[in-house]
Amino acid sequence: MSVTALVGAQWGDEGKGKIIDILAEKADVVVRSQGGNNAGHTVVVDGVTYKLRLVPSGILYDNKVCVIGNGIVLDPKSLLGEMNEIKANGRSLDGLKIDARAHVVLPYHIALDGLSEKMRGGSDIGTTKRGIGPCYMDKAERSGIRMCDFINPAVFAEKLKINLNIKNKIITEIYGGEALSYDEIYNEYVEYAKLLAPYVIDASVFVYDAIKAGKNVLFEGAQGALLDIDVGTYPYVTSSHPTAGGFCIGTGIGPTLIDNCLGVCKSYTTRVGKGPFPTELDDEIGDAIRQRGGEYGTVTGRARRCGWLDLVILRFAVRVNGLTSLAVNKLDTLSGIKQLKVCVGYNKNGVLLKDFPVDISDLSDCEPVYETFDGWDEDVSSVRSYDDLPANAKKYIEFIENTLGVKVAMVGVGPSRDQNLTR
Ligand code: GDP
Ligand code: IMO
Ligand code: MG
Repeated sequence: MSVTALVGAQWGDEGKGKIIDILAEKADVVVRSQGGNNAGHTVVVDGVTYKLRLVPSGILYDNKVCVIGNGIVLDPKSLLGEMNEIKANGRSLDGLKIDARAHVVLPYHIALDGLSEKMRGGSDIGTTKRGIGPCYMDKAERSGIRMCDFINPAVFAEKLKINLNIKNKIITEIYGGEALSYDEIYNEYVEYAKLLAPYVIDASVFVYDAIKAGKNVLFEGAQGALLDIDVGTYPYVTSSHPTAGGFCIGTGIGPTLIDNCLGVCKSYTTRVGKGPFPTELDDEIGDAIRQRGGEYGTVTGRARRCGWLDLVILRFAVRVNGLTSLAVNKLDTLSGIKQLKVCVGYNKNGVLLKDFPVDISDLSDCEPVYETFDGWDEDVSSVRSYDDLPANAKKYIEFIENTLGVKVAMVGVGPSRDQNLTR
């Protein structure tokens, strides 16, 4: 048996969904523990592309249990839409389970996300506007509505009334927005609650028992290390913990139960939304990576910012997650680029920084320091063995591995299940 945690090692969209889907073949249980439908995890199976937002990426096998843990903020309308898409593709939802403690995203969270972003003007965060931050705010403020409240119509009615009263004041009096209707929300959402109630369990007990029974359990991270609310590029972060510790808090299990932590990254760097990005390429190479890599957001369709691989960031991800191995995706996207650069440190007024600065304002004085590599022309998307990669591609991967001191266990050469080289 093994308990493996999988995390994004950059700013999200590293190809976590693809790797989870591959590893899920040998797993019994796949667990999501943080974030919500701000996540967009793409899985390509038999030529069909699935964009999973809340449902764990193990759902595309028939016999896996897929758990939505307590640390999730769950938009019922979005989840039901996703469940319908999965069913329409002939896949089963029998294995889906939702923790009773997960917090519910309601229309006022979505309205407030949009209004607060607008109020910030040019210093907006560039959120996905899915109500994620406002829902976690209610959780921390202790006024949130949890799944156990939501599926009890009397409790839901009472909590919704109290919350909406306050939120409507904030929406209208502070932000100058339109008040939302209690009746409309209640009548619509009470029906969603009925549909979701059969899936609700105590997932902390379930996952603990599964681990103790020797099952293979896979934790599926959403977002990435640099988007962590505590250690990420604050305030340009999400409102949860995409780092490995988030699995413990967001599932209700202890850290000694997790055996391994696999970080997923791309062979370059991308970011959606605002915030610092030291190796960003605002030129034709950045455009070429965006075009070839299809770097457009899964959730919002926004163009992703693209840049060179940054080992300062990956060194940070190794530290904050305790990574035991790494999967490097999208090596195929770099084919044909004559010279590749990899950032190995930041030069701050003549001093070489190897650790990502705590205060992002320090980055304005930092210049990335690059090592340059010869690229390769070959299309590697049909390569199926690491040894068959061009020599320069192997040099690139081995430089990452040696610099970080962490094994690159997998290399991605395309979006499908079989386009993954295991070492
Ligand atoms: P996630 O949020 O980390 O699951 O990543 P996304 O699904 O948002 O974005 C990753 C994108 O890259 C998706 O479109 C994947 O299908 C695609 N992808 C994953 N691995 C590879 C790879 O090795 N090569 C290529 N070309 N595409 C990949
Ligand atoms: P996956 O799981 C990439 C980013 C948003 C924004 C910031 C805050 O697919 O890797 P939020 O809506 O969470 O309050 O937005 O976080 N963001 C992501 N970027 N991938 C994601 O998820 C993301 N989820 C949130 O773009 O910059
Ligand atoms: Mg994504």
